[in-house]
Amino acid sequence: MLKILKYMYILANWKNSLSAESSKRLAEGIYSRLLHQYLNMEIVIFPDDISLLGVRSILDSLSIVKIGAQDGPMDKTSSLTGSISASNLSKFCDYVLLGHSERRTILGETNEMVALKATEAIELGLVPVICVTKGNGTVFDPYYGIKAQLESIHDHIRRQGKYLIAYEPIDAIGTGISADTEDVKNTAETIRKMLSGIQGSSDIPVLYGGSVNAKNVSSFLSLEGIDGVLVGGESLTVDSFLKIVKKASDTQNLQ
Ligand code: 13P
Repeated sequence: MLKILKYMYILANWKNSLSAESSKRLAEGIYSRLLHQYLNMEIVIFPDDISLLGVRSILDSLSIVKIGAQDGPMDKTSSLTGSISASNLSKFCDYVLLGHSERRTILGETNEMVALKATEAIELGLVPVICVTKGNGTVFDPYYGIKAQLESIHDHIRRQGKYLIAYEPIDAIGTGISADTEDVKNTAETIRKMLSGIQGSSDIPVLYGGSVNAKNVSSFLSLEGIDGVLVGGESLTVDSFLKIVKKASDTQNLQ
């Protein structure tokens, strides 16, 4: 009997860590070594804006690799200096990363702004990956912050469309100390319950991000309720990223 593999998302957030040249070299390395077609897996690369086109042209022919932008427009009509137009974005990307905690903290992006961007992305046919964190919780309700972030999305999304949720605890980002798997499991379960309460659907993919590497990736991907990972630092070299992809595939085969 044919085994049904768990569908997994392996996302690479290159942030602003690479030059355009290094981004191209990394994309070329991924291209030449991803000969093996992994099954039931979507790999999404998020380069910085200036590298988007170059990276896309290198990876375009690999069907399991998609390209995403690290932010998206709030509204397609207004003119906004420093932003990429909605039509440009939808021509060159498949995904868009929204509400990363670095943007929420440093740029003051609010739940409402993230929700408006998610709406716009869905209208354009892009898949938003909405990052949520547990900030602003209380001892009585540690999930209060996440709930507010999810409710805001639901208030704004006018049309049903696919989106992903990435749980990224701030303490685990860029520290080398990933979150406790029990915390990730419980939070993913809570996110699913909230989503089904808010919009009657619990089949929205939930990912984990924060110091993911080849050694710990299986422990997250084998959790029930976790459909993928969002990788920062360890997605910046061909070796470290493809080791994560390989481990993800091994984890699928073990389940
Ligand atoms: P690190 O994997 O470097 O901790 O980054 C996580 C992250 O912020 C991905 O969006």
